[in-house]
Amino acid sequence: METETLFRSFSTYFNANPQIVARAPGRVNLIGEHTDYNDGFVMPMAIDHAVWIALAPRADSIVRIRSLDLQADSVFDLNALKKGEGWAEYVKGVASELQEAGYRLRGFDAVMSGDVPRGAGLSSSAAVELAAACAFSQVSGFAWNAVEMAQIAQRAENRWVGVNCGIMDQMASAASKEGCALFLDCRALEIQYAPLPEKTSVVILDTSTRRGLVDSAYNERRSQCEEAARWFGVKALRDVRAEDLKRGEGELSEVVMKRARHIVTENQRVLEAAQAMRAGDIKRLGELFNASHASLRDDFEVANEALNQIVECAQEQPSCYGARMTGAGFGGCAVALVEEGKTSAFVDAVSAAYKQRSGLDAVCYVCRPAAGAGVIVK
Ligand code: GLA
Repeated sequence: METETLFRSFSTYFNANPQIVARAPGRVNLIGEHTDYNDGFVMPMAIDHAVWIALAPRADSIVRIRSLDLQADSVFDLNALKKGEGWAEYVKGVASELQEAGYRLRGFDAVMSGDVPRGAGLSSSAAVELAAACAFSQVSGFAWNAVEMAQIAQRAENRWVGVNCGIMDQMASAASKEGCALFLDCRALEIQYAPLPEKTSVVILDTSTRRGLVDSAYNERRSQCEEAARWFGVKALRDVRAEDLKRGEGELSEVVMKRARHIVTENQRVLEAAQAMRAGDIKRLGELFNASHASLRDDFEVANEALNQIVECAQEQPSCYGARMTGAGFGGCAVALVEEGKTSAFVDAVSAAYKQRSGLDAVCYVCRPAAGAGVIVK
């Protein structure tokens, strides 16, 4: 989005100039799927698709915000927040949790726009939450603490919006660094920045499939993981070692065993992926991507047919080091590691093969690792 367009729209709506533009990115997860709510490891990166909020502070506690993409307005009072429905709930939820955490907030007038595809598994909602948190920190004059803001945004999503997500998306949107993936320990909330290997491009492959009932399937996976952790007598599956998994065989149901095996092996893959990245071993990183997909398909059972098809189409290309589904699953996107300079040929070949196999049109993005939330104009 051009800052100029945002400025112009703000002037049209509010008859004044905005004073600040806050921005927060979407993310793609490179590896470590469904491990965040098991206290495990993840490796997302922020993408160069984001949500922008252009705003001017108000003297009172009113927030007036216009979504340019949805052509809809929302007006609410920070002193009398009430739950409703729709996109503004992410902003209200963040306001509510910030206040709960003791921050005194000031109102603002704003226009908001974004280019993170919605419902594709690229965390458009985390981007709205973190852009809102950044907007509030600016107008209310408190310092930006990325980890704390990610936790507040996660609580907004859990308690206000009612989606039981982990911390990965909000951390990626809040704390990423340009050029790097974010290697995150979801228990300690410790971050290490991992530069992407040279001569490698990250390509997002959107299957164009969406699934409505993701929430219930997600919650079911969470409780299966919790059941396994209880049986092993640990706080979370993060604490189960691969060699201990066998103890559960014949004791836990086959399904719960499979879920546990995915989490335990996926955590190992993330640790190995971090090593491979440090060593610049792109070939190994690609193999780990492929193994992660197989585990999500066979053990965690969150891939749909379209995701399996698009991942196969990608893996068949000689320029592809590895590919896997990304995000919660059941539709949405896959992510592929591709030789730099060969991405257009790769995208053409995958799109054609996927169309032939599934009858569907893929939407592909070559993405650069972007910085986390921040102010771009002040
Ligand atoms: C969604 C959730 C994340 C994470 C992923 C799966 O994106 O919001 O917290 O659990 O699914 O890895």
